[in-house]
Amino acid sequence: MRGRGEKDELVIKDSSIGLVRLLFVLILFVIGIIIGLISSSHIDRYFTSQPNNFYMNYVSAAPAPSYTTGIAKTSICSTESIICKNDDCLSMESFKKPKNLTHKMTDNELFWRASLVPEKPEYPFERVPKVAFMFLTRGPIPFLPFWERFFRGQDVNKYSIYVHMNPGVQLKFPNSSVFYKRQIPSQDVKWGTVTLVDAERRLLGNALLDFSNERFVLLSESCIPIYNFPTIYKYLIGSTYSFLDSYDDPSRYGRGRYSRRMKPDIKLRDWRKGSQWFEIHRTLAVKIVSDTRYYNLFKWYCLPSCYPDEHYLPTFVNMFHGNLNANRTITYVDWSLGGPHPASFQAEDITENLMQHIRNNGTTCSYNGEKTSICFLFARKFNPNALGPLLRLPSTLLGF
Ligand SMILES: *[C@@H]1O[C@H](CO)[C@@H](O)[C@H](O)[C@H]1NC(C)=O
Ligand SMILES: *[C@@H]1O[C@H](CO)[C@@H](O)[C@H](O)[C@H]1NC(C)=O
Ligand SMILES: *[C@@H]1O[C@H](CO)[C@@H](O)[C@H](O)[C@H]1NC(C)=O
Ligand SMILES: *[C@@H]1O[C@H](CO)[C@@H](O)[C@H](O)[C@H]1NC(C)=O
Repeated sequence: MRGRGEKDELVIKDSSIGLVRLLFVLILFVIGIIIGLISSSHIDRYFTSQPNNFYMNYVSAAPAPSYTTGIAKTSICSTESIICKNDDCLSMESFKKPKNLTHKMTDNELFWRASLVPEKPEYPFERVPKVAFMFLTRGPIPFLPFWERFFRGQDVNKYSIYVHMNPGVQLKFPNSSVFYKRQIPSQDVKWGTVTLVDAERRLLGNALLDFSNERFVLLSESCIPIYNFPTIYKYLIGSTYSFLDSYDDPSRYGRGRYSRRMKPDIKLRDWRKGSQWFEIHRTLAVKIVSDTRYYNLFKWYCLPSCYPDEHYLPTFVNMFHGNLNANRTITYVDWSLGGPHPASFQAEDITENLMQHIRNNGTTCSYNGEKTSICFLFARKFNPNALGPLLRLPSTLLGF
């Protein structure tokens, strides 16, 4: 009995194992079907949907395509002309030089775009190097007529103009002006704060978008040119070095403004001072818009009475690109009176003698390792009332 009973049990066991097996096989079967379905739907999408999309994108906009050999070409062209109504669609023209200075890029986006450097050394167009004149102004430019005279008749392929003006100021330049539509998207600038450096970098960023710009001059509304355009162009384009004022001032107005919190990235021995009115080569301009780390240290720790515009670029360039820099400025200013502000030339100061003295006071400067009598190409600060006397100077004196 016991044996039979055991056997019966065994039989029962056997049949229950068979049931489990059957279930297992069934489950495997179902899983197999599901996997099969999923993968076949993927294959479906891969092999049918994609060509459909491709076809939709490129052909659907074309009116009733006919099946000739020319079909692909004509339909792509017609779609292109529909999508790319404006010139900005992959056109070489607007890539090498934006037609419209208005854009909606943030500073971050702008600096990233401006930092792009072509790997290929030859340009696929005839590149005439340009000087970018970048005006950083609060309000109107009082010496506009003087500048217009300076640029009159000059080759427009050799210069470009950019104006950064506080957003509140709405200036309408006549369409005959060289300043017409040369305003870049600007933001408020508070003198003595990092926003001044922001505006300088914004000017550089916008000017770098034109691949022909080779040299970049920063100018204020109180600056004037003291040589004619051909002389300035030759001097700048021919220079091996950038002209960015950078010196070590041991006084409290120099080293005294250093903050220990900038350590270990910036040490006291790296610290430099210099006039903000620079003139730099494209290579250096790219380095400047590409910097975030050192800019941030100045933004955080160079607070009044430290002035970022007088220390950030002189220090940054001294630390990393000193070999590219002549370390002197080409913008004349008269500090002979002493005090915190330089002399401002008034109408009655403007004489041929003064201008002659500013152009050449008898000393020489180093240019590409050689001596030159031309130390300055621009001068500041001129009071707006000096415009009349400046325009009345004989054109033989300044050469324009
Ligand atoms: C320049 O671009 C701005 C915005 O991107 C647009 O409003 C303006 O009409 C454009 N100007 C020209 C002349 O195309
Ligand atoms: C320049 O402006 C004047 C007057 O506002 C207008 O008559 C002329 O057509 C404009 N010229 C161009 C090239 O836009
Ligand atoms: C400018 O100063 C740097 C140090 O920051 C130096 O390496 C460079 O030789 C100087 N430039 C010239 C032209 O003397
Ligand atoms: C001439 O200008 C240079 C540079 O600004 C200055 O160092 C020098 O003292 C000036 N010389 C005279 C005689 O004014």
